[in-house]
Amino acid sequence: MKELEGKVAAVTGAASGLGRAMALAFADEGMHVALGDVSDLDEVLTAVKRRGVNALAMRLDVSKALEVEAFAQKIDAELGGAHLVCNNAGVSPLGAAWETSVGDWQWILGVNLWGVINGVRSFVPRLIARNEGHVINTASVAGLINPPGSGAYNVTKHAVVALSETLHHDLRERNSAVGVSVLCPAYVPTGIADSERNRPSGLQATVKSRETLAREQMLRKAVESGRLSADDVARAVVQAVKDERFYILTHPRIKGAIRARMEDILEERTPRNPMAL
Ligand SMILES: NC(=O)c1ccc[n+]([C@@H]2O[C@H](COP(=O)([O-])OP(=O)(O)OC[C@H]3O[C@@H](n4cnc5c(N)ncnc54)[C@H](O)[C@@H]3O)[C@@H](O)[C@H]2O)c1
Repeated sequence: MKELEGKVAAVTGAASGLGRAMALAFADEGMHVALGDVSDLDEVLTAVKRRGVNALAMRLDVSKALEVEAFAQKIDAELGGAHLVCNNAGVSPLGAAWETSVGDWQWILGVNLWGVINGVRSFVPRLIARNEGHVINTASVAGLINPPGSGAYNVTKHAVVALSETLHHDLRERNSAVGVSVLCPAYVPTGIADSERNRPSGLQATVKSRETLAREQMLRKAVESGRLSADDVARAVVQAVKDERFYILTHPRIKGAIRARMEDILEERTPRNPMAL
């Protein structure tokens, strides 16, 4: 999508971090913006409107298909429908696969994977109908490599990469003009290390092992010291949409670990630990 001005962007997870930065970057391009999040959106709504574009905000849980569909309907009614859709909301509680409770598996899959599925199911038919638009699904480098200690998170992010690649092929097969990108950042300073703030009420916290507690500290440090800001990533997303680029790999230094994984697969070697490369 080369021309963004005057078009409409929909962003989930827009209250904080990458979603907030993308919403502001789209508004800076002259796009009208629809903001969705489980958290309060007042601050970002004001910041978007200050840029002189139209905006709406809706509290929603992306894991619930009906709420995502209601978001799409509200955008149709109030902004004339979305052109650019960012399925971005995510959570990242850590833990080994066997230590993660069934409830936590369902929570993480619900937000990170079903959130994207629900966004695709509600918005893509609308984009196909107008034969114009672009979908950006936020995965992670954890969708291309598998760092230890975050089994559920890695599963969801690999699934988002798989879903995005297949969506791209299916749209090309139908000669649709709708584009797709998958965003795969490494560590960026945002609220992601504090995902527990979004734990659904009534879902008991998992008892964490010593290893998980240590890994949480490492994640927090890595996220806080991320060299690229959320604004840098948002600018890369805007450029990728204009260039109609599929993979958005914002941190080139991680490519060595991705290459190592691909080589291990092709050589049928036991996987190396990407964090030790
Ligand atoms: N920050 C990083 O280092 C990093 C790296 C790779 C990928 N990501 C991905 O980027 C995306 C955005 O995360 P972030 O880093 O900006 O973190 P963040 O915590 O700052 O933002 C996540 C947003 O998602 C919202 N959210 C959580 N559960 C929701 C739900 N059920 N429904 C609707 N909204 C919900 C939160 O309220 C929050 O506003 C996530 O998908 C994350 O996995 C982040």
